[in-house]
Amino acid sequence: MPDRLQQQLEAFERALEGVRDEDSLYALQVAYIGRKGSISLLRRDMGKMSPDQRKQFGVEFNRVKRAIEAGIETRRQFLSDDARRRELERFEDLTMPPRRPEFGSLHPLTRTRRALASTFRRMGFDVEDGPHVEHGRYNFDFLNFLPDHPARDEQDTFFVEPRGDTSSRELVLRTHTSPIQVRTMLARTPPVRIIALGTVFRRDEDRTHSPMFHQIEGLYVDRGVTMADLKATLLQFTGSFFGPGLDVRLRPSFFPFVEPGAEFDMQCPFCRGARCVVCKQTGWIELGGSGMVHPNVLRDCGIDPAVYTGWAFGFGLDRMTMLLHDVPKLRYLFEGDIRFLEQFPC
Ligand code: DAH
Repeated sequence: MPDRLQQQLEAFERALEGVRDEDSLYALQVAYIGRKGSISLLRRDMGKMSPDQRKQFGVEFNRVKRAIEAGIETRRQFLSDDARRRELERFEDLTMPPRRPEFGSLHPLTRTRRALASTFRRMGFDVEDGPHVEHGRYNFDFLNFLPDHPARDEQDTFFVEPRGDTSSRELVLRTHTSPIQVRTMLARTPPVRIIALGTVFRRDEDRTHSPMFHQIEGLYVDRGVTMADLKATLLQFTGSFFGPGLDVRLRPSFFPFVEPGAEFDMQCPFCRGARCVVCKQTGWIELGGSGMVHPNVLRDCGIDPAVYTGWAFGFGLDRMTMLLHDVPKLRYLFEGDIRFLEQFPC
């Protein structure tokens, strides 16, 4: 009897190899292990067997039946995979290498911003920001700009008219990050040590100017703060950002919110003062403005100038980014051209 089971199994296996579709597979399944299948029929003779034979038959029957079920399952899987593969092949060439996922990367300006923030954080500065649409008061008045200062001119500034509000309340797209100084001093008591990094806006557009650009602002107010602290901080900053040993110089200048005011330059990080094309043969790179916070500004922000002094500085991120990455044109930073951005992989 077990021999007949084995014979049936072998016959099944031969038949299985020829099966090419689900229907014939099903027919084969029915023919062998269906209720009236050849294997099932063999069970009918069990009644005639001795208990020992029956036991032996039972073991063998189960083995063969399981082998047939497994064979059918494997074949079914193969047929369905095969069908799927054929289906796909009608549309795609499966031998093509897969399309690589596209990875984004950080915009070079974002990198500069983050690097500056982390440099100043290490020096104990908090990072602050403020709104892009700013009160004229914070953008100008609190910063000691006189009412007729040219910076308030329509030529230089984007004025914003609140919807439905034609009153004289003056809103502007902030023209610099300096209003963040005001907001910080109004909200905090000294010691105050912050930087602010953000987008600023001016009606200015030519080869080297964009109506939207980026600044960093620094502010330190405490008892006994002097211009020497300003210079030391700038030196510390250039040292940790561009490498040690670069000198910084302050040149007298005017900004309404500082007194005295100064422009500050950094020794050219490329030639280290030896004069090159980057620094236009001067040995220096102009970075931005700075000075001691004007007593009027401190007073208006609720800080007693007889007790406290402070310094501030501000400079542009865009030109610095161009310098760092050798970007020839300002507009490349803002066009969002993927061919440019791809040159800064992570
Ligand atoms: N806000 C000035 C500008 O946009 C830059 C500046 C100059 C910022 C002197 C300062 C400063 O904090 O002390 O041109």
